Amino acid sequence: MKKVLITGGAGFIGSHVVRLFVNKYPDYQITNLDALTYAGNLENLLDIAHAANYSFVKGDITDENFIDNLFSSQHFDAVIHLAAESHVDRSIMDPLSFVKTNILGTAVLLNAAKKHWHGESGKLFYHVSTDEVYGSLGETGFFTEETSYDPRSPYSASKASSDHLVNAYHHTYNLPVVISNCSNNYGSHQFPEKLLPLMINNIVNSKPLPVYGKGDNVRDWLWVEDHAKAIDVVFHTGKLGETYNIGGFNEWKNIDIVHLLCKIMDRKLGRAEGESAKLITYVKDRAGHDKRYAIDATKINQELGWTPSLQFEEGLEKTIDWYLDNSQWVEHITSGAYQQYYHDQYQAR
Ligand code: NAD
Ligand code: DAU
Repeated sequence: MKKVLITGGAGFIGSHVVRLFVNKYPDYQITNLDALTYAGNLENLLDIAHAANYSFVKGDITDENFIDNLFSSQHFDAVIHLAAESHVDRSIMDPLSFVKTNILGTAVLLNAAKKHWHGESGKLFYHVSTDEVYGSLGETGFFTEETSYDPRSPYSASKASSDHLVNAYHHTYNLPVVISNCSNNYGSHQFPEKLLPLMINNIVNSKPLPVYGKGDNVRDWLWVEDHAKAIDVVFHTGKLGETYNIGGFNEWKNIDIVHLLCKIMDRKLGRAEGESAKLITYVKDRAGHDKRYAIDATKINQELGWTPSLQFEEGLEKTIDWYLDNSQWVEHITSGAYQQYYHDQYQAR
């Protein structure tokens, strides 16, 4: 049996990773550690909440004593570290909370792994990171694993720092680590502050669709379940000390995505074609807005055999359907009522 600690498992990507691991590996004991910030929602995991190989622990990765005690009592074999402050706009408004969670939190976990694993073999600290550490691209080119770090927002700088710490623990203490840097994820259970769920929610409610600047910034979009599968592959077959880029080979200008969403949602909501697009509103640009991200995912493809499974339009349809079918989820997570809701659901089982 393997004991795996997954941090941030109540968040968007983390909940998909937890579900995949709990269902696919019944012989692993999965502990989901999450502070349940505004972005963490146990409703995301109701379907596996009572699985025999799953447990949830509420706690803060920056709390050194708590983390030390957890490692001492649980004897984890591996960590998959996703807990983070993840939204760029919030990092511009409140950089220090990003420094605390993303840098200090990662260092606390690394330190606990170093202390409790005593250099034993068969351990793994897997750090889940972002393509934003590489900075911003011009019209051409891709981020490879050799691209120099050039983070430009407080969020990406905090993630870059955490990546450096992970590599430093590998080089200095021989801690067994692996890192992956992924592009923009989309899919179910994403907090409606990020581009896609925000736009979907606003279209449903006929609210303005705020497009930053000219809408010509480019992102490379990946279906979240494909990211979870990539994490599974890297976790089991990635080489220690290596970095793997994960991306969708799927670049879109923001404004084109918003138009595509409007078109699909006009159809789904029975609106006249062009109705939702009238909501598009160009607003002040994000400070320091990175122009373009594009991942070269050749290494994970050729060395580990991973490839994205879904075409973007199919993924978008699924994502939109999920938000349309789960308006209560959106209501709970945006109203803060979800803690009580989860508590009631949990009690009812
Ligand atoms: P999210 O904001 O949806 O979830 C983050 C989770 O971490 C939440 O459940 C939150 O409660 C938890 N958390 C925050 N602070 C904590 C703390 N101090 N202690 C314990 N738990 C804490 O984020 P996400 O979009 O799912 O991203 C997950 C990870 O993947 C992050 O590390 C992020 O940098 C990385 N990533 C995200 C994307 C993306 O497109 N969303 C792409 C590449 C990499
Ligand atoms: O690239 C990976 C990163 O992708 C992750 O590391 C981050 O955690 C994740 O939040 C995401 O960062 P972005 O800043 O790219 O995602 P966001 O959804 O916030 O914005 C996507 C693009 O859309 C970006 O160019 C800004 C723009 N945007 C965003 C919002 C929220 C708008 O034009 N209007 C909006 O209201």
